Amino acid sequence: MEITNKKIMITGANRGIGHAFAEACAKEKAHLILAIRKADDKLIKDLKKLGASSVEIIECDLISREGVEALAKKMNQREIDLLFNNAGQLTGGLIETQPLDDIYKMFQVNVNALVHLTQSVLPQMIKRKSGKIINHASVSAVMHFPCASTYAASKAAVWAFTDCIEQELKGTGVSTLCLFTPGIKTRMFDQIDELYSKNIDVVNDSISPQEYAQKILNAVKKDWTYLEPKGATGIAFQMAQHFKGIFNWGVGQKFKR
Ligand SMILES: NC(=O)c1ccc[n+]([C@@H]2O[C@H](COP(=O)([O-])OP(=O)(O)OC[C@H]3O[C@@H](n4cnc5c(N)ncnc54)[C@H](OP(=O)(O)O)[C@@H]3O)[C@@H](O)[C@H]2O)c1
Repeated sequence: MEITNKKIMITGANRGIGHAFAEACAKEKAHLILAIRKADDKLIKDLKKLGASSVEIIECDLISREGVEALAKKMNQREIDLLFNNAGQLTGGLIETQPLDDIYKMFQVNVNALVHLTQSVLPQMIKRKSGKIINHASVSAVMHFPCASTYAASKAAVWAFTDCIEQELKGTGVSTLCLFTPGIKTRMFDQIDELYSKNIDVVNDSISPQEYAQKILNAVKKDWTYLEPKGATGIAFQMAQHFKGIFNWGVGQKFKR
């Protein structure tokens, strides 16, 4: 899918990967609709300066079903060409130590909101026989580490959901892209250390959000179904799928209770 002049809606576009992707789309002269928690005039100005054809902010909080419903209603008053379900939260630590409130909130944002917004936008896309949904999973959907239990479960759910609808959508003109994102240097990446490092040696390998946004853009333009990691993480990603015993043994060496 080409991006120029398309209406692109991104959740969590005020920082991190969502923000970098908004910048990349602005340079392609897209119309941007940013679903973020707090209005930000400077963000609008900066993206217009980069070349965006238009920039609109819809204030929303995905933490409740009502918040997502309100966003879905506003979204459906616009003809969205591409929805990027990017907003996400991180949980971590030994399962008995993870606050239940945080787990509930994380599943609401990472899974429920993503499913709700996808379901909501699809009828308009199917009617127009065109559109794309990008769902933000993670390498954690496949690479299962101790301390990542609930977050990994949320991202595995994103993968399964996206995989199922990709098949349902064949022949409709609407497509999906599932991101198996590796370490990207964002606020969330810094939280990994905080939440996991007491019990597991955290790998500090990461690339910038800007570099990753270019990879997402390339995957969109080439209509890929998945964006998988390359390099050392790519090898570990394949090991986790095809040689699970060896992968789990290796991970076990880095873990202590
Ligand atoms: N960074 C990585 O290494 C990595 C790896 C794999 C997957 N991912 C995925 O990438 C996506 C983006 O994360 P990031 O790395 O860019 O992290 P980030 O910088 O922490 O950004 C997270 C974004 O989600 C938004 N968000 C969180 N809770 C929300 C809520 N209740 N309502 C609306 N927006 C909410 C945040 O808004 P506020 O600023 O208002 O909090 C922020 O814009 C996530 O889905 C994450 O799971 C990241």
